[in-house]
Amino acid sequence: MPAQLVCFERNCRARFPIAEVIYNCPRCGGLLEVAPDPPNASPQDLKTLWRSRRAGNQPLDQSGVWRYREMIPFLENHDSVVTLREGNTPVLDAPRAAAYAGLDRLAFKHQGFNPTGSFKDNGMTCGASQAIRLGMKRVACVSTGNTSASMAAYASAGGLEPVIFIPHGNIAYGKLAQALEYGARTFQVKANFDQILALVRTLAERLGIYLLNSINPFRIEGQKTIMVELMDQRDWRPPDWIVLPGGNLGNISAFGKALREMRDFHLIPNLPRLAVIQAEGSAPFYELFHSRDRSALRPVERPETLATAIRIGDPVSWPKALHEVDCSAGTVEKVSEQEIADAKAVIGRCGIGCEPASAATLAGLRKLVAAGTVSRGADVVAVLTGNLLKDPDYIYRYHTGQLEAPGGVAIQSSFGNSPVVTENDPDRIAAMLEDY
Ligand code: F0G
Repeated sequence: MPAQLVCFERNCRARFPIAEVIYNCPRCGGLLEVAPDPPNASPQDLKTLWRSRRAGNQPLDQSGVWRYREMIPFLENHDSVVTLREGNTPVLDAPRAAAYAGLDRLAFKHQGFNPTGSFKDNGMTCGASQAIRLGMKRVACVSTGNTSASMAAYASAGGLEPVIFIPHGNIAYGKLAQALEYGARTFQVKANFDQILALVRTLAERLGIYLLNSINPFRIEGQKTIMVELMDQRDWRPPDWIVLPGGNLGNISAFGKALREMRDFHLIPNLPRLAVIQAEGSAPFYELFHSRDRSALRPVERPETLATAIRIGDPVSWPKALHEVDCSAGTVEKVSEQEIADAKAVIGRCGIGCEPASAATLAGLRKLVAAGTVSRGADVVAVLTGNLLKDPDYIYRYHTGQLEAPGGVAIQSSFGNSPVVTENDPDRIAAMLEDY
């Protein structure tokens, strides 16, 4: 059977052709997903095939997304695929970060090693390929920065015209610079992320532009491969916990879907538990998860956090996210600006580094271990979603004691490392190094 789109709402489940340009269910307005489609090979044969592709020279096999194409079967052929050899991201042991969290061991899967420096590339290769398959010319997104950087790169690489919309004044410079350099028509709109999403939906419909926001089910398919690659790297042994930051909640939706499918296709024996970490000032999903009435998410009207990637008050994918956290017996935690900043510096001192939103994982883990939710001996993988160089301004301010949380509260530079300005004087420098 050819691949299909299916409505995520349990009491709708309407199905639609894969090549229809729709973003929500035309019947009930629910979120859409690509209907799961079990591969035509045994689990062992698939594992062997995927391993052998790692050594190949074909672009599709070199991609850490398309190598696992049996798990994302929405294209009849792969003529439209745009790949920058995304994925292939390492799993790095981080003993210092483990000690900081109170764990015996901790590994980071670092999505910042992607071509544009974030996990968005895993999804964007699929979104852009689907746009080309549909015959689209222009693609658009609203973004806190990483989606737009990634979309700009993949659209330009695939001969599409990228149009991006970002909140004015609230984007890390590294990300804006990428969008400009990759040639995206860029609008900095004087509104927040959630307001701009409504604007972009209107414009996409009016001008026939293909929307590549995270509700796009093809992007979710691509992000699934982060989990498939992780399990492959771990010889198909799921950890006890997987921890990730939550903003618009596309990534948790993708991770949960991937893990359930891998379990259903007998690639892994059981589901790991999923923990989503939000920033305190932008934590509507945390509130929903821990409230008694979980039928509707209450948006945060003025979301605030220096982790601008996750500064989102009305995450669109919350129904999927809630389902996935529940299915995995997982949890949701929130962390303060100070906790994010310190955790980020600790990840830096591991020689690994990441952008602020990614560091919410370590900060959240520390709280979950202290509360006894995650045990000291647990096998934990935290996903670092973006590269350290995305937001250098934040880093400089933290290390020089100039970082301020929203509202003007000073962040303590607990792990500060300020550069020393000095005369060209070997004696003085030697004396300073002796004291160090
Ligand atoms: N980490 C980083 C570095 C991100 O850029 C984002 C989202 C997230 C975490 C949260 O992921 O939205 O799937 O829950 N960035 C989006 C963007 C919103 O526009 O780049 P999510």
